[in-house]
Amino acid sequence: MYKNLIFLIFLFIFCYFASAQNGIVVEQEFVKKGCNSTCIYREERITSKTISNFPKNCFTLCGYLVINNLTDLSEKQLLALFENAKVLIGGLTIFDTNYTTGSFLAGLEAIDCMYDSGVEWVSNMKMTELGLTNLKNVTCNDFTISDNSKMTKLNMPKFENYQGTKNLVISRLASNFCMSGDEIKGFSTTTTVPATVEITGKLCDFVKSDKTCTKDISDGCTDFYGDLTIGPNFADLEKLKSLETIIGTLFLNGTTFVDLSIFENLHYVIQIDQKKSALKVEGNKMLSSTLFPSLKRIFSTAALESVIFKNNNENLKSDPMTCYTIRNSIMPSSLWVPDFDGNSCGE
Ligand SMILES: *[C@@H]1O[C@H](CO)[C@@H](O)[C@H](O)[C@H]1NC(C)=O
Ligand SMILES: *[C@@H]1O[C@H](CO)[C@@H](O)[C@H](O)[C@H]1NC(C)=O
Ligand SMILES: *[C@@H]1O[C@H](CO)[C@@H](O)[C@H](O)[C@H]1NC(C)=O
Ligand SMILES: *[C@@H]1O[C@H](CO)[C@@H](O)[C@H](O)[C@H]1NC(C)=O
Ligand SMILES: *[C@@H]1O[C@H](CO)[C@@H](O)[C@H](O)[C@H]1NC(C)=O
Repeated sequence: MYKNLIFLIFLFIFCYFASAQNGIVVEQEFVKKGCNSTCIYREERITSKTISNFPKNCFTLCGYLVINNLTDLSEKQLLALFENAKVLIGGLTIFDTNYTTGSFLAGLEAIDCMYDSGVEWVSNMKMTELGLTNLKNVTCNDFTISDNSKMTKLNMPKFENYQGTKNLVISRLASNFCMSGDEIKGFSTTTTVPATVEITGKLCDFVKSDKTCTKDISDGCTDFYGDLTIGPNFADLEKLKSLETIIGTLFLNGTTFVDLSIFENLHYVIQIDQKKSALKVEGNKMLSSTLFPSLKRIFSTAALESVIFKNNNENLKSDPMTCYTIRNSIMPSSLWVPDFDGNSCGE
């Protein structure tokens, strides 16, 4: 009897310290990431009852922020809470709300998630955009924007860098949902390809500027929008050197290229039309190297044939490194690509 009681007391003391310890560990992890302990929000969610504890004046705001159907605050009230926050460390869930925009978080320039927590922006039936107009960097293993049936755009014009390893999902939004070239390029920067990548939507109309071009490559153009086909008589070879991003299909058809060194600045080839390949290289009889000098990422949403090499120099077929180098740059990673005359790497 006494033994049991003593055991229970021990258990109680043990649990008490274990949980306190855990709280301290989490706190220390936040501090290690650069959080001031006065800037950590510790409540389960954000509601009118908990906002008195909200660290309103922090440049770097920390915590696992949850805004959901129990959040009884107006968009204006939320805006006031987040007015000073530029960096969020922790995680962010916006689930099952009636807000029409996420622009109450427009001040954020960076979101840096802890562990496997992420950004989950799901089932907000009235939300038309994220509205994160200052966001530049997202480092989150899970980034899920889905099931917001009225969402027509992200509206993240400054977005430039995503890093993540697990889920990158931007899907099941309004039927006319579109992403800008810069936004999708921002998601292509991840150095590790996330295990799951699901992005559905169209490309928005592109904004004409000195750095953008379409059909003809203008001098100094870095971002080409549309399908770029290069045949044996392509006139603007020198101009290819300035290209950094192709948002469309790159098709090399019967060129006399020996290698691909002309694409000296090409970082990204991005095709979000599911019916089109991102890269096609066909009938280039002298081409014996597929090394793009600066390539960082080929992004494709096509289930099959996202990258095709066909009828090029015989040497290409017998060089497995060629295949693997290209494959490592493709997002999403898939067993079937690239396709070298009907074979993929290792076959
Ligand atoms: C944390 O914030 C408080 C209040 O803003 C400030 O007084 C303190 O110096 C900060 N501590 C650190 C380590 O930055
Ligand atoms: C919020 O959602 C939960 C779970 O989905 C539900 O049980 C609850 O009734 C909802 N509350 C309100 C105020 O809508
Ligand atoms: C959102 O709107 C619906 C329909 O008007 C309502 O039933 C629901 O309770 C609202 N949810 C919140 C969190 O206000
Ligand atoms: C965003 O990332 C860039 C490059 O990694 C870095 O230089 C910059 O400081 C980051 N900005 C913020 C606000 O975290
Ligand atoms: C590729 O070039 C060949 C020879 O010029 C041409 O016949 C063929 O139609 C081109 N392929 C495509 C898909 O445009």
